[in-house]
Amino acid sequence: MLSISHQIETRIRMALKKIIAESESSVTSSISGFLLDPQLVPATKPEFGDFQVNCALALAKPMRRPPREIALAVKEQLANDDQFLELCELPQIAGPGFINITLRSQCLISEFQARLKDARLGVPLVDSDKTLKDNLRVVVDFSSPNIAKEMHVGHLRSTIIGDCLARVLEFRGYSVSRLNHVGDWGTQFGMLITHLKKVAPSALETPDAVDLGNLVTFYREAKHRFDTDKAFQEDSRQEVVKLQMGDEISLQAWSLLCTQSRKEFQSIYDRLDIRLHERGESFYNPYLQEVVEDLDNHGLLVVDDGAKCVFLEGLIGKDGKPLPVIVQKRDGGFNYSTTDLAAIRFRFQPIPKGDGACRVIYVTDVGQSNHFAGVFQVAKRAGWIPSNRSVEHVPFGLVQGEDGKKLKTRSGDTVRLRDLLDEAVERAEQDLCRRLKVEGRNEDAAFISKVSSTVGLAAVKYADLSQNRITNYQFSFDRMLSLQGNTAPYLLYALVRISGIYRKGGKCRMTSEDLKFSEPQEWTLLRELLKFDQVVVLVEKELLPNRLCNYLFELSQIFNRFYDQVPVLKAEEHQRVSRLALCRLTADTLRLGMSLLGIPTLERM
Ligand code: ARG
Repeated sequence: MLSISHQIETRIRMALKKIIAESESSVTSSISGFLLDPQLVPATKPEFGDFQVNCALALAKPMRRPPREIALAVKEQLANDDQFLELCELPQIAGPGFINITLRSQCLISEFQARLKDARLGVPLVDSDKTLKDNLRVVVDFSSPNIAKEMHVGHLRSTIIGDCLARVLEFRGYSVSRLNHVGDWGTQFGMLITHLKKVAPSALETPDAVDLGNLVTFYREAKHRFDTDKAFQEDSRQEVVKLQMGDEISLQAWSLLCTQSRKEFQSIYDRLDIRLHERGESFYNPYLQEVVEDLDNHGLLVVDDGAKCVFLEGLIGKDGKPLPVIVQKRDGGFNYSTTDLAAIRFRFQPIPKGDGACRVIYVTDVGQSNHFAGVFQVAKRAGWIPSNRSVEHVPFGLVQGEDGKKLKTRSGDTVRLRDLLDEAVERAEQDLCRRLKVEGRNEDAAFISKVSSTVGLAAVKYADLSQNRITNYQFSFDRMLSLQGNTAPYLLYALVRISGIYRKGGKCRMTSEDLKFSEPQEWTLLRELLKFDQVVVLVEKELLPNRLCNYLFELSQIFNRFYDQVPVLKAEEHQRVSRLALCRLTADTLRLGMSLLGIPTLERM
């Protein structure tokens, strides 16, 4: 109902302007800007109508009039405004000066009819005005695992949340770069190459010579030797230097290792249907020196104990001194922050030198909040972020086991993502087979495999997205696979059921375009359906996918109440048509909502 609420806002703003213009001149001149905002919000209770206008309270002081009087004056203006009255009933004043607004039935019905014909279900595209084209580029930096290291559940969260945000932004019409900022550069390669040279030299020369599927084990061994063996340490350091200098053989070894890890990552992305563009840390290597020089030119660089740093304003360490961001270590090496500074600079720089982004979003665990706060501040002070652009860290909490501790396997190892997804699918299959037996259904293997893999993976994604991402989240197969509650199986099942009702009803003649609703359950459902566009736009702003999940869950529940209490298929012809239309829009809304979450839906299950 975004377009309707914008229209109402315009009418109220005009009313306010008139009232203010009629006041004393000292009042007129003191009111402008945000005071003219009607403060239109969705009504908190159905009995208050559809919207509530709160501005009278804020205007009381500057207008030197009681808020109720202002509200009454607004009401009077609106009572004479034909455009307003076409949309709404006469407003009601409540409490100290709230204005309650109820939409006319006809207005709701025409909006509903428009939705039935609109594949976007009312979600507007961002302004695609030519002059703004340049402003529609968004970078979402997500997933971003590290080569040769374990891709862990934290990366899985980043992958699922980042993909959902990218989908919402794409649907709104932004041009989104989904960047995978993989850790493909740095000290781990020195260790790994040195170690492999000793234990499996052929792995560094020919692809697939050794099964590097267990790169993580090699990495662990290398790390152990690095920590315990002085000579190995020295060799590793030299290996890193060689790599950074562009030594052919080192580069070839490095590239083989990357390819190997990439295969592993890609298999996870394929299963989850995630598109990502890999642009790892190594990409920014040629820009690191420039970054340091640029910071120096801006007078931001301080040499502290041999290291080049920028001291942060307003961020104080335990010792009471400002925290530094180190950009070049004493030994001349660069680090994670330097790369992120180079990346942020590149992303905001206009095309063709950079990405020309208007908004850059980083999806990582909350543990990196200080890192990003530091990087963002330095980039701003260096003038790399143009004033009308934004940069945001989208943090999320830890994934915990059901015991509230870090997620581990029974034997205490870190959980491999592949195993985790396999287990979700296996359990979904067991649940399905149990249900088929109870229902006495006989389905073929293809059906069982399709349904269980869709449900299993959907459950993993949805469990993650439906939490407020900031809080830690307890991973529980039982909970996420349950057919009850705010889960993927519940929603997928609701959709199958609703589509089924609609299909059955569709066989009857659907001639009348004339929609009529009489029951409160119908109106409640209709109003809920019309909220979809607002929810999507809110997710785009706040970057909180759980808002969309909660909405879809609420919608399914409202649908169930409607379907329990009001006959649909057995209703009389004119009612049946209207009610089937409600079923259809509910199904369409659930389907589109799920697709924005990155969750495919099923016809049957
Ligand atoms: N590779 C990092 C990690 O595993 C995440 C990178 C996030 N993106 C970034 N631009 N720093 O923790």
